[in-house]
Amino acid sequence: MRMYDIIEKKRDGNELTEEEIRFFVEGYTNNQIPDYQVSALLMAIYFQDMTETERALLTTAMVDSGDKIDLSGITGTKVDKHSTGGVGDTTTLVLAPLVASVGVPVAKMSGRGLGHTGGTIDKLESVPGFHTEITNDEFINLVNKNKVSVIGQTGNLTPADKKLYSLRDVTATVNSIPLIASSIMSKKIASGADAIVLDVKTGAGAFMKELHDAKELARAMVSIGKQVGRNTMAVISDMSQPLGFAIGNTLEVKEAIDTLKGKGPTDLTELCLVLGSQMVLLAGKATSMAEARSMLEENLENGKAFEHFKLFLSSQGGDAAVVDNPELMPKASKQIDVLAKQSGAVETMIADNIGTAAMMLGAGRATKESEIDLAAGIMLHKKVGDSVKAGEPLLTIHTNINDVDPVIALLENSIVIATHEVKAPKLIYETITE
Ligand code: URA
Ligand code: CA
Repeated sequence: MRMYDIIEKKRDGNELTEEEIRFFVEGYTNNQIPDYQVSALLMAIYFQDMTETERALLTTAMVDSGDKIDLSGITGTKVDKHSTGGVGDTTTLVLAPLVASVGVPVAKMSGRGLGHTGGTIDKLESVPGFHTEITNDEFINLVNKNKVSVIGQTGNLTPADKKLYSLRDVTATVNSIPLIASSIMSKKIASGADAIVLDVKTGAGAFMKELHDAKELARAMVSIGKQVGRNTMAVISDMSQPLGFAIGNTLEVKEAIDTLKGKGPTDLTELCLVLGSQMVLLAGKATSMAEARSMLEENLENGKAFEHFKLFLSSQGGDAAVVDNPELMPKASKQIDVLAKQSGAVETMIADNIGTAAMMLGAGRATKESEIDLAAGIMLHKKVGDSVKAGEPLLTIHTNINDVDPVIALLENSIVIATHEVKAPKLIYETITE
């Protein structure tokens, strides 16, 4: 088999076979095929697309390029959730204990990562003592015992994806539905999930800015999941403004605590109930979305979800007393209100700019080496559609940095107040189950 022929075949719009797809994925991972040939193939895929079959074959080839996490020691159907990423997305912190509280095993492998705020692990580390450096055996035991555990990334998962993603980054081929869908799904499948729930974001703060692109990506991933025997569902949710009120590590943990007590922001609570219902359904713990939802609502009301969060934190060394008394978590030295300059209704809160502002305040990493300030971030007091009076606080920044003026300027430019009425944006555009 020659790489040249594979490039030519895809360039001319033909479907690649399993052998051809494996040949280039394995050859590239093992450094036997040069960057320039794989670059040409990626560009051909960018323009010619891939069939649903090809997408599933590419995903499987990438999964087979590295280690696979074996979760077979865990009883029950392991359902994983993946979000395509947004600003102030606190859902994992809420969902993990919430669905575990109804008996769904949550075996979460999570990262720190770059971005506006830290990853799930950074957020959880704002609880004193909490750690994710546990052995695989301990991880499996904890999930069997408490139905929930979070571990840091282990093993060499999907090396083919790592190499291909870096190459796509420098060849203008990141933005391709078959390549994005196979990249995301390969990582979820290698992490051992039996079933997958996807939260595909759309809007200014999302990777997929346009609704039709988000839908296409969601459908592509659901199709891959089903073809490779992992039942998959997706939700398309709004990320034009941040989710909930809190953006920042400690701030989001507090928001998660409120939400688990049934007193969280409406949008965050609703999204967690929808995603959580899909997880419960896929795990076979309910037979309809409505039944799953009422199980989750009940545990938000009766305190079981909240108690489960404490159990989860203490099982990994965390001081669960902070859940009763969040004031024990790190606090920033400065809290500064940003005020509305005019009366009216909030028309836009540009999610990605607000995320960037949170990062500038210290909440996220600009580079892999940056230190995170767990206490830093932003608390919104208003959301799109809310009315506001001149002089009222729109948000409060929490920070330990001195030069806050550029951040305040960015925030002021990211929030538009209109003098006419404004409708709140839709939170969930669609749920995709087929
Ligand atoms: N996120 C991924 O993991 N892969 C992509 O290709 C794009 C976003
Ligand atoms: Ca939030």
